[in-house]
Amino acid sequence: MSYIEFKNVDKKYQMGEITINALDDTNFQIEKGELVVIVGPSGAGKTTTLNILGGMDTATSGSVFVDGKDVTKLKGKELIKYRREDIGFVFQFYNLVQNLTAKENVELATQICKNSLNPDEVIEKVGLKDRKNNFPSQLSGGEQQRVAIARAIAKNPKLLLCDEPTRSTRL
Ligand SMILES: Nc1ncnc2c1ncn2[C@@H]1O[C@H](COP(=O)(O)OP(=O)(O)OP(=O)(O)O)[C@@H](O)[C@H]1O
Ligand SMILES: [Mg+2]
Repeated sequence: MSYIEFKNVDKKYQMGEITINALDDTNFQIEKGELVVIVGPSGAGKTTTLNILGGMDTATSGSVFVDGKDVTKLKGKELIKYRREDIGFVFQFYNLVQNLTAKENVELATQICKNSLNPDEVIEKVGLKDRKNNFPSQLSGGEQQRVAIARAIAKNPKLLLCDEPTRSTRL
């Protein structure tokens, strides 16, 4: 079995009378250590795929195996643990905490994880050493995105899921 197996995954959104098939029998496998890029037009289902893989959304049907366990079956504390310890997520729209500085945003993530990396070192890696005490509103779009990248990397997760991570920045 591959490290990640997406099997016959459907995702339907019901909007009143209309059903949107965001994912229709999606299948793929990813091996451990692989770097994979999902490419497709706007609305193709890229964010939906990442959200299901990261345990932030549920599939309508199908199964999603990560490291041997079916994450579509996780509930309650198990699901929280999976999202907290196994997943690092760079959101398409950053989702930074606005009243925390860049460094505090990264620290917040590392404080809840077991094998986290040093926040200062990760911030330096994304080139924000001189910006770490700024609040998100005091940063450019690309800088905010780099804080979001640092926050995900600093968790040292099994899976780093990045939704258009270079939309606003070039590292
Ligand atoms: N919460 C929702 N309710 C209803 N429809 C949704 C919802 N979220 C996504 N969709 C629809 O599902 C489809 C896939 O959306 P998704 O966000 O996964 O696309 P995407 O490939 O990430 O697009 P983009 O490149 O624009 O970010 C789209 O048609 C979208 O309108
Ligand atoms: Mg998207």
